[in-house]
Amino acid sequence: MKQKKKIGNGIDTAEIRAAAKNIDEGGVTAGYQADRHEIIAMLNGALATELVCVLRYRRHYYTVTGLQNGSVKAEFLQHAIEEQAHADQLAERIIQLNGKPDFNPATLTERSHAEYDESDQIQHMIKSNLIAERVAIESYRQMIVKIGDTDPTTKHMLVGIMAKEEEHADDMRDLLV
Ligand SMILES: [Fe+2]
Ligand SMILES: [Fe+2]
Repeated sequence: MKQKKKIGNGIDTAEIRAAAKNIDEGGVTAGYQADRHEIIAMLNGALATELVCVLRYRRHYYTVTGLQNGSVKAEFLQHAIEEQAHADQLAERIIQLNGKPDFNPATLTERSHAEYDESDQIQHMIKSNLIAERVAIESYRQMIVKIGDTDPTTKHMLVGIMAKEEEHADDMRDLLV
């Protein structure tokens, strides 16, 4: 009888190799514990949210006027860039999970958890950003809880993004008068 090869502390090499067999699935192995479709749907919701946040912050960045508002303007731009980085991370993870990132602009606002904002008044802008950040924090928190231990890579990524959103919310709160 063929003996199972074991590496050191009880790791089953044969089982690991069997789980890794299907190379068409890229980084997703047979041992993947989460419901892949559910995770992809969740990440697409987050992607839509980040894209709306990019658009809202960019609009605020370009429309804010006044010499005294330079630092607020810079903050809006910084956030727009960071939300874009989050969108990229989410799209990349969806691809790793063999899903399709949804960038369809026609359905973006209805799929986003946070809202777009067209106000012209700087304090309204700041307030709408603060609300959007709080929405993002809450939705990431729910996703993280839902994932639990089933997909550590996605969870780890979302924890990192959520920490950034908490920073963003704090930045916006500091700008409220
Ligand atoms: Fe973000
Ligand atoms: Fe944010």
